Amino acid sequence: MVTAMTKRLFIALAMLTIVGAALYWPVVAPYRALAQTSNRSFDTNDPKLIAKGEYLAKTADCAGCHTAPPGGPSGKEPLHPSAPFAGGLPMGSPFGTIFSSNITPDPAVGIGRYSYVDFVRAVREGVAPGNKRLYPAMPYPSFAKISDDDMHALYAYFMHGVAPVAKPAPRTKLPFPFNQRWALMFWSFAFAPNDVFVPQSSRSAQWNRGAYLVQSLGHCGACHTPRGPAYEERGYDEQSRRYLTGGTNDHWFAPNLTGDKGSGLGRFSEQDIAAFLRHGQGGGLVTFGSMVQVVEDSTQYMTDDDLLAIAHYLKSLPAHEPSGHFDNQSRAALRTVRAMQTGDVELPGAGIYQSFCARCHKADGMGEPLEYPRLAGNPAVLSPHTDSLVRLLVEGGEAPHTVAGPVPKKMPSFAGKLTDTEMARVLTFVRNTWGNDAAPVTTRDVQSVRGSIGK
Ligand code: HEC
Ligand code: HEC
Ligand code: HEC
Repeated sequence: MVTAMTKRLFIALAMLTIVGAALYWPVVAPYRALAQTSNRSFDTNDPKLIAKGEYLAKTADCAGCHTAPPGGPSGKEPLHPSAPFAGGLPMGSPFGTIFSSNITPDPAVGIGRYSYVDFVRAVREGVAPGNKRLYPAMPYPSFAKISDDDMHALYAYFMHGVAPVAKPAPRTKLPFPFNQRWALMFWSFAFAPNDVFVPQSSRSAQWNRGAYLVQSLGHCGACHTPRGPAYEERGYDEQSRRYLTGGTNDHWFAPNLTGDKGSGLGRFSEQDIAAFLRHGQGGGLVTFGSMVQVVEDSTQYMTDDDLLAIAHYLKSLPAHEPSGHFDNQSRAALRTVRAMQTGDVELPGAGIYQSFCARCHKADGMGEPLEYPRLAGNPAVLSPHTDSLVRLLVEGGEAPHTVAGPVPKKMPSFAGKLTDTEMARVLTFVRNTWGNDAAPVTTRDVQSVRGSIGK
């Protein structure tokens, strides 16, 4: 999988180098960011602006990526909490590990010497001073849409609201050809849109606010939009049919957020979605995998108005890329519920479910409100890609810790308890019981995910 991806990317880069070289200089080279950056002056010491920047940095989750995990980048340092924004988070990509940068205002190892224009170019276009091209692990294709007003606030916050940390982040060392940062110029040219966000006058203010947050600061598409052969997102707004229809990063599948009634948000209300983003729990779903950090670092801090705007925008997206079905009134659904309740279970996987899962997720698959997620009608369970389900079963998980949410519960790891075949069976069972209807999971699916995550 990685080598196939690597090969495709290499070919794509080679092609782009040729096409891009012919087009780039005459057409786009003159500083694109400057064209859209307003020259209006602003006071970087204004406490109101700094406070606004702090909120925006949360909505964009700058800290989530720019803070090392406990134990430092190597995992071997002492477990004291690592300094926010000092960088060093190792991020897995198909080409190797990329470390995030120190973005504290330290003048030597951070961004203390950045002018406002340097900051705008880095965040919107992925070009740091000295023409250092950034890998798209930094979501600049989305951040391109951050408004000038919001950029002012972010700059004020990073210059005056963040404590400088003099510790350098580890260097990223990717193998050739991916260590050739200059080549990313062509990648950006071909794949990173440089459009500003334009509100749609036919839509409400709430819709436009939601669209802006999802597409720019929230960079939800970085995980929820499928990627193409050169790691580019297949669309950056609702004009594209693939936008937010689900993507896999680091073996977590981020589900379809369009209106699909099977594995999308079609059966969930705006209130369910807002609660999910605030507390990690909504509509009977519980956040897991890479979404846990998004809720912990970012969405739990958003205002109610912003969360409802996001939910409103998501609910406006028509169903695309439908997959999986849920019908809890179907005859098969009623039969399995009855069989599970009377203990008369002969389906492969049913016995495993009774012994290992029903305690928390319940015989009827409805879980326990504010404790355990429902598996019946759960879009993540019905998704076309099952990497997340396998990964969760192997590693276990814990619901997000939030300021105002319920006490997070844990899902145990089944790595030592179930064989690959048993995991495939129980997942196939939960994908086809209680009215759920989705493709089976095979033993090979389980082996392939376990091989890739090395667990
Ligand atoms: C999804 C993860 C992610 C998020 C979210 C993110 N960054 Fe980054 N950022 C990175 C990575 C990774 C790099 C290093 C890329 C490289 O080395 O090519 C980076 C690099 C940068 C740089 C360049 C620093 C330098 O000189 O090397 C700046 C500035 C920056 N980010 C600012 C921000 C700000 C401000 C935010 C929030 C608005 C943000 N980032 C959010 C991952 C992220
Ligand atoms: C780092 C990757 C990542 C980012 C960024 C991200 N998500 Fe997610 N999201 C996931 C994953 C993985 C899941 C599946 C696990 C789960 O349901 O919690 C998920 C699940 C969800 C769900 C539940 C969907 C379902 O059908 O169960 C919603 C709603 C959601 N995300 C909204 C958002 C919004 C809105 C944003 C942007 C503000 C966002 N996500 C950003 C990875 C991400
Ligand atoms: C001790 C209670 C417990 C047991 C036993 C348990 N789970 Fe879970 N399960 C959870 C919790 C808590 C979550 C939320 C995990 C998270 O947030 O990381 C979860 C999440 C899930 C999810 C993702 C759905 C979502 O919306 O979060 C699936 C799928 C799942 N479990 C399947 C299973 C299967 C299959 C078994 C049996 C092999 C099982 N679980 C056993 C507690 C449990």
